[in-house]
Amino acid sequence: MEIILAKSAGFCFGVERAMNIIYDNIKKQDGNLFTLGPIIHNKQVVDELYEKGVQAIESLDEVIDENASVVIRTHGIGKKKYEDIEKKEMKYIDATCPYVKKIHRIVQEHYCNNYQIVIIGDPNHPEVQGINGWCEDTAIILNKYEDIEKKFKSINKVCVVAQTTIRRKKWDIIAEYLKINCTDIIFFDTICNATNLRQTEAREIAQNVDVMVVIGGMHSSNTRKLAEVSKQYCKNTYHIETFEALPEKLSLVNMKVGITAGASTPACIIKEVINKMVEKENVQTNSEEMSFEEAFEQSLVTLNTGDIIKGTVISLSSNEVYVDLGYKSDGIISMSELTNDPSQKIEDIVKVGDEIEVFIVRVNDGEGHVLLSKKKVDMLKGWDEIETAAEEKSILEGKIIQVVNGGVIAIVNGIRVFIPASQISDRYVSDLNIYMNQNVSLQIIDINKRKRKVVGSSRIVLEAEKAKKAEAFWNEIEVGKKYTGTVKKLMKFGAFVDLGALDGLIHISELSWSKIKHPSEVLKEGDLAEVYILDFDKEKNKISLGFKKAEDNPWEIVKSKFNVDDVIKCKVVRLVPFGAFVELLPGVDGLIHISQISNKRIGKPEDVLTIGQEVEAKILELDLEKQKISLSIRALLPDDVSDTNDDVDENKEDKLPTEYTEDVKVTIGDAITEKSE
Ligand code: F3S
Repeated sequence: MEIILAKSAGFCFGVERAMNIIYDNIKKQDGNLFTLGPIIHNKQVVDELYEKGVQAIESLDEVIDENASVVIRTHGIGKKKYEDIEKKEMKYIDATCPYVKKIHRIVQEHYCNNYQIVIIGDPNHPEVQGINGWCEDTAIILNKYEDIEKKFKSINKVCVVAQTTIRRKKWDIIAEYLKINCTDIIFFDTICNATNLRQTEAREIAQNVDVMVVIGGMHSSNTRKLAEVSKQYCKNTYHIETFEALPEKLSLVNMKVGITAGASTPACIIKEVINKMVEKENVQTNSEEMSFEEAFEQSLVTLNTGDIIKGTVISLSSNEVYVDLGYKSDGIISMSELTNDPSQKIEDIVKVGDEIEVFIVRVNDGEGHVLLSKKKVDMLKGWDEIETAAEEKSILEGKIIQVVNGGVIAIVNGIRVFIPASQISDRYVSDLNIYMNQNVSLQIIDINKRKRKVVGSSRIVLEAEKAKKAEAFWNEIEVGKKYTGTVKKLMKFGAFVDLGALDGLIHISELSWSKIKHPSEVLKEGDLAEVYILDFDKEKNKISLGFKKAEDNPWEIVKSKFNVDDVIKCKVVRLVPFGAFVELLPGVDGLIHISQISNKRIGKPEDVLTIGQEVEAKILELDLEKQKISLSIRALLPDDVSDTNDDVDENKEDKLPTEYTEDVKVTIGDAITEKSE
């Protein structure tokens, strides 16, 4: 025979706590002890307590002894019952399971906030009746899916809780219906994990055995459910209170036998059943020849504060993680013990089914939970990694979670690492808040394990990366190569562009084909700029960039568009003593010499022309190399030999200002300078 004993078999945390309360009080109590209803649904335990003077009563009226105390059992009672006890000035000992108490608090709070309370559970179960007592017995109690349509109409503002021992499937089905049919509905999944765990384990074991034995009281709701679950997977399932209830003829020789027990079944009864089974079949347990008693003892995990053990995540709430430790109570990791990073959500860190390592903070927090910390395990491991990284000067990844005086705090492998403001970047940062929640690469620059202080630098990493990139950049750079860079800074003389690895400068003269006064006329900081290398000097770390495009050169357009003798329309843009400048294209001006303005003698260009006037003129000369264009209006007019300016223009240049006499033709630069002046 091979026996597979469920790890979760036997007293749950709530029952064990209640039993301890009872036994403690038996020792110190002067008067009689009464339990309001059987303390647990287990006849053997109730009988044993009776022998010790603890009597189960149904009504408070049954208590006549003034010194007596009433024990409230794990199922809990309604608010009115507490008031009755107080009215009668009775002493009472509250052994309500903390998980059930939590449901009372939820129901009371939501009932006061005008929620309709819905309890998914058995209306005849004392726990459900107790819960209902916290909303003045107004709860809608749904036990079967068929109940819903009968009892339930769509309502608004609903608060749903569960009896701790119901099957999850029932909760899922009914909750799904409510979700669709109600508005403003809040669900509190209050199914106890002890129940869940037992049922899951029973299901798994029942699938793999020939015979399944479920030990526990016939009135114990959770034991009955275990039997139901087991039966679905193993038809030879026996729900027994004691060994004697097993069929006489049942032979277990060469059988694989699964054993589980309800939350109210004491360990001594489970042991007794196992031992009697072994005796009866007279076989050894397993290859290690361990007694079943030993196997049972070994199946119970012992925990000590400070231990690091493995557990499995069984459920998540908004701020807690529940972990199965193979112990009688589940462990709880609060959000503050899960991570140092407040921006993380629980579901980003763990999910149901994950096996995780946890540190035991307290074996019992007073409410029966095992308090755990994942953060501490991460930190212990993190220290080793950080020390190694500091020695090897390797790069670590972290996330910035806090801005503090003089720097920021990053979480690296669960450890808080201070990064001074001067070490966060390779440039000055005025507002450290921009780094909040950002991931950073860093190197450890100082570590003091005793004081638990670590200092890191992102700047070292950034500078090293930049140096590497710069080396690669210099190896590839060549005149004419194009880059897309970000305009980093505008100065009077040009624009600095970040090319990724290095910065280059676009001189102001390279920004536009037209003359500009400031780079901001063309670019602004943060712009992406298509640039090309004009020149570079690795020694001096200088890169000159070009920005204006050859195809935008207006002289290229002039070349393709205009020819000598063409008659064109142009606009007078400036008048000077020796002639008029006209605009052929934006950025390209030509000169109509005073002698070419009219077929009559004129004193000054203003006598005939005004700025802005559109005129027709003939191109006399087009010098693309020197970028000079001269035009004539006179060439388009009939000759008036007597009255021309020829002699002034051709022979009296010395009367013009000297700067114009040397060359009356004009370059774009001249024109623009003149214009800007
Ligand atoms: Fe409490 Fe859960 Fe047991 S609710 S009494 S720990 S089954």
